[in-house]
Amino acid sequence: MNDTGGSTDDYNGEKILGRFQTLGGGRNLATIANSIAWLLFCLLLSAAPGYSQSLTGRWAAAGGMLDNGEQQKSILELKQTGSELTGTLKTLGYSVSVKGTATGNHFELFVAEWNQEKPTIVGDLVDGELHAVEGGRRNLVAKPAATTDDIPAVPYIEPPPLHIVPYNVLAKTPPMGWNSWNLFADRIDDQTVRTMADALVSSGMRDAGYSYLNIDDTWEGVRDAQGNLQSNHKFPDMKTLADYVHSKGLKLGIYSGPGPRTCAGYPASYGHEEQDARTFAAWGIDYLKYDWCSAERIYSNDQLQPVYQKMGAALEATGRPIVYSLCEYGLGSVERWGPAVGGNLWRTTGDISDEWSSMIGNVEKQVPTAPYAGPGHWNDPDMLEIGNGHMTDSEYRTHMSLWALVAAPLLAGNDIRIMSVMTQSILLNKEVIAIDQDPLGKQASPVKSGDLETWIKPLADGGVAVGVVNLGPAGTKATVDSSDLQIAGPVKKARDLWAHKNVKFTNGAYSANVPSHGVLLLRVSAK
Ligand code: GLA
Repeated sequence: MNDTGGSTDDYNGEKILGRFQTLGGGRNLATIANSIAWLLFCLLLSAAPGYSQSLTGRWAAAGGMLDNGEQQKSILELKQTGSELTGTLKTLGYSVSVKGTATGNHFELFVAEWNQEKPTIVGDLVDGELHAVEGGRRNLVAKPAATTDDIPAVPYIEPPPLHIVPYNVLAKTPPMGWNSWNLFADRIDDQTVRTMADALVSSGMRDAGYSYLNIDDTWEGVRDAQGNLQSNHKFPDMKTLADYVHSKGLKLGIYSGPGPRTCAGYPASYGHEEQDARTFAAWGIDYLKYDWCSAERIYSNDQLQPVYQKMGAALEATGRPIVYSLCEYGLGSVERWGPAVGGNLWRTTGDISDEWSSMIGNVEKQVPTAPYAGPGHWNDPDMLEIGNGHMTDSEYRTHMSLWALVAAPLLAGNDIRIMSVMTQSILLNKEVIAIDQDPLGKQASPVKSGDLETWIKPLADGGVAVGVVNLGPAGTKATVDSSDLQIAGPVKKARDLWAHKNVKFTNGAYSANVPSHGVLLLRVSAK
């Protein structure tokens, strides 16, 4: 109603419903005539070009069926001012602020804190309902919410007092493997995991170090009468699957979170931490990614440490070596207390997507955390997108180089069963992997000069890896000056890790052309 000059708030979802209820009430003729006139007026307005009703209000969507037979639910609370929309989106798994625009009856919403290029919800107001598509593929029909419509609340559980969880002696170098989320999201199942295990072996990835095969969200079923978390129909027998993965010389990872629900809305470990840790250990799980999401409704950021400590201690108590991966997007300066809760790695940023700006944004955002990386505990700028198709080969080489330079976990996120030769040559570049896996465990930091960004990583042998990334739109000449490298003496050996050839420093410098979004990656030593 914003174009009519009338009150915008009068026409929110609840009020529209109220108006039709009055119509059906059948009081006197004058009321009916008034109502019909009003309806005609509304119909006339809605036919006028540029007309739109306000989206202001609380909207409830039942959402699709989850793979465990439960139903997803969303509450969208919107405020429209002119064509601008602000509000919140709550699902079973998470709550986020949204912002966007309305043009006529069409609207697009972005998650404010996710820095997205594409809107997360796109839809239209149709007959007083929001008909939308969420995340590019899930249909969402939202109706005006009743006051009782909400995400179910859970009782508060006080987190434990702080203590140090001892180091589990795992992840002395950044974990390597494969994770299901980036490409498969909720389409992951037992059979796909088995074929990925086979492909990790046949592609040579396992032997190159990619040993963890990690199942992300949407494997969860419901809890049984004793509170034991079961897997859903996509994973008929987790123990047998773990045995299969282990028989291939690989390790199996799984996913849960400290809140009542995972991000995708499935049961998580809130109030069942010890029980779930025992279940995971009994299945033969070797790696747990533990995702904050719905815990945010219960706990403040000041409580992140004791909440994560609870699962760290529960994993320790199982006696099974399980890599502990904290996923809370860098909240609450996790790099300062991650090791104290038994964490082996922690996310430092929001979710990566398969685009240049997201990849560069994530790695640059974690620069302040560099001093905190080291053997056993790593900063995690999120999983790899190499081979997923929306960056150029040059950009994917830069992605791999940067992850190696910052000693990030190397968790491939593509379909490794059908990799192109180019993708294989990137993920399987053993010289680049060796930079990532260097036992000194130092994280490089960048120095910027115009479009060029130079990252230097000290290595255990006294040499360095140096990467020069071209952030600009055109190819340019990059020069590496040996006096910037802080190595003990003149350059004795330098190797280009993508060209796979030794190169020569002349008068203390080496220059090469670097394409737009490309990288020059050298390993340099004074020995
Ligand atoms: C969050 C995490 C992702 C993935 C999804 C699963 O968004 O950051 O890496 O685990 O949850 O729902």
